[in-house]
Amino acid sequence: MNQYAGMKSTDGQSGFIDFRSDTVTKPSVEMKQAAMECPLGDDVYGEDPTVNALEEKMAAMLGKEAGLFLPTGSMSNLVSLLSHCGRGEEVLVGDQYHIYRDEARGASVLGGIALHPLKTDLFGAVQLDDVIGAIKPDNSHCAITKLLSLENTVAGCVQDQAKLDAIMIAAKERGLSVHLDGARLFNAAVAQDANIADLAKNADTVSICLSKGIGSPAGSVMVGPKNLVDYARRQRKLLGGAMRQVGVIAACCNYGLDHNVPRLKHDHKKTKHLGTELFKISQLGINLDMVQTNMMFLNPASEDAEALSAFLYERNIIIGGQSSPRMVVHLDISEDDIDETVKAFKDFYKN
Ligand SMILES: Cc1ncc(COP(=O)(O)O)c(C=O)c1O
Repeated sequence: MNQYAGMKSTDGQSGFIDFRSDTVTKPSVEMKQAAMECPLGDDVYGEDPTVNALEEKMAAMLGKEAGLFLPTGSMSNLVSLLSHCGRGEEVLVGDQYHIYRDEARGASVLGGIALHPLKTDLFGAVQLDDVIGAIKPDNSHCAITKLLSLENTVAGCVQDQAKLDAIMIAAKERGLSVHLDGARLFNAAVAQDANIADLAKNADTVSICLSKGIGSPAGSVMVGPKNLVDYARRQRKLLGGAMRQVGVIAACCNYGLDHNVPRLKHDHKKTKHLGTELFKISQLGINLDMVQTNMMFLNPASEDAEALSAFLYERNIIIGGQSSPRMVVHLDISEDDIDETVKAFKDFYKN
């Protein structure tokens, strides 16, 4: 339950500096204008030109054959897993990845798919030997290992591309398919000044969220080979996720892709500045090596954590996470907001 429910309005227009997530952004006037003016049709008949344009654009950007528009990143991951695996088959997935921890085990509940957790290090990486060691032998005692599911960024950390590529290639050499949860893959691309297609080239399917740093109110796109995406379209229908004149949302995604990708570097710069300043407050226990994109984690003493959140809240600043407080920078957070926030932390710790 939202710890702020019933308290002050958190509508983003009430002066709050909201660091809970990059999902809290409100669409700009121009984005809403794009939604009002876009051509529409019934997407279940494949007749929404705005959705079709988004699917084609994302597939081209990621270097894949086809794309499928979905309402959320969770459904995009779920249809991907349902498309790769059947009942009794298994996905190898990092133990701190969203698919394993935060998607209600949809693939297991709805698809009879087993999830095998792989140990992740501090920066969210899985190890090649662990992946290879987790692939089950082909005998009747074991689930059939079918898919490796990776994530980038993980808790804001950019994954080492050479290592990621080596792991993906090794998995494929052993007959597995590879899915990449790239909810924030644009952040990873911008942070490395890389082409997003290069980050995705060894993955069969990729899920990208447009509702996070890109700023759309909703929308994700799954991309991959045409036959698999066609099958995923059937999975989306099965889950009740086929929508009608949904170009109104796809237009926001298209607008975000056209206008909000390069600006992610400003989010990263602001996060670095915030991290560097808060690092000076030793009680916050910040690991600056983990501040790589738009996300950072605080480690205050447990007896301070609640009082800190409450103090910040009185200053109209909201941070996320309970046990591990988190701060995420996004397009609705300005440099002045960062300065005000640093001051509030210093005041709390009388620093
Ligand atoms: C890494 C990752 N994957 C997937 C998702 C799911 O996205 P959604 O909230 O749109 O279902 C999230 C959401 O925060 C995420 O952080």
